[in-house]
Amino acid sequence: MTAMVKAEGVHKSYGAAHILKGIDLEVAPGEVFCLIGPSGSGKSTFLRCINHLEKVNAGRLYVDGELVGYRQKGDKLYELKDSEVALKRRDIGMVFQRFNLFPHMTATENVMEAPVQVKGESKAVARERALKLLDRVGLGDKSGNYPSQLSGGQQQRVAIARALAMEPKLMLFDEPTSALDPELVGDVLDVMRDLAESGMTMVVVTHEMGFAREVGDSLVFMDGGVVVESGHPRDVLTNPRHDRTKAFLSKVL
Ligand SMILES: Nc1ncnc2c1ncn2[C@@H]1O[C@H](COP(=O)(O)OP(=O)(O)O)[C@@H](O)[C@H]1O
Ligand SMILES: [Mg+2]
Repeated sequence: MTAMVKAEGVHKSYGAAHILKGIDLEVAPGEVFCLIGPSGSGKSTFLRCINHLEKVNAGRLYVDGELVGYRQKGDKLYELKDSEVALKRRDIGMVFQRFNLFPHMTATENVMEAPVQVKGESKAVARERALKLLDRVGLGDKSGNYPSQLSGGQQQRVAIARALAMEPKLMLFDEPTSALDPELVGDVLDVMRDLAESGMTMVVVTHEMGFAREVGDSLVFMDGGVVVESGHPRDVLTNPRHDRTKAFLSKVL
């Protein structure tokens, strides 16, 4: 079976700053893959590489069997054009800590926007799907609300619906609950759990160890741009083998 994400010796630098120092990992289709680690360890950078927002400097990164950012012909690599990169990015949904909804659009309009603008879908079809998705994330009664009329947790659920509207084959979450008041976190995690149960492949950067333990299929602990330890979430969280993992977990658990 083709991995949904496969990283082989992935390196990424910003100028002289060497951020990712050889990442190797594999995410199977349908898997919930959790990524944890201290601030600055390169988690967001790695997600941005998966999402074609950053080019890797060395190593290979594949999404669904296709090389990210390049086309391979024989043993030569050719950089993809921006338009080709944009086309591939459509298949990957991304949810950030900050939801960045359009403030002048209702929840429904926010969810309709990309299918209409990017895929040229008819408004009627896009609206119907948007309403279904809002219902799915528990916001069926808030479809006409503007972002300012929604709580942070509700806005984040609209952002998830917005990503799903493009019918992605992979969803990336970058600390989706970190900016939320504690009492709003649960509803967002419930939506993510639901999505996981539906079979979506998910890469989730999170500090929610309860979520990682209950929903995650794999967990990777990153520090200083390398994978320090990986395994089943229950094993890594209960029996960390490395001192760096132990030190990190003692602070967050
Ligand atoms: N666009 C950029 N230019 C320069 N440095 C960056 C850029 N993005 C991230 N970094 C640096 O890369 C390191 C890793 O950042 P990041 O991937 O955001 O870590 P994490 O998500 O694990 O907190 C940090 O030191 C950060 O300052
Ligand atoms: Mg980050």
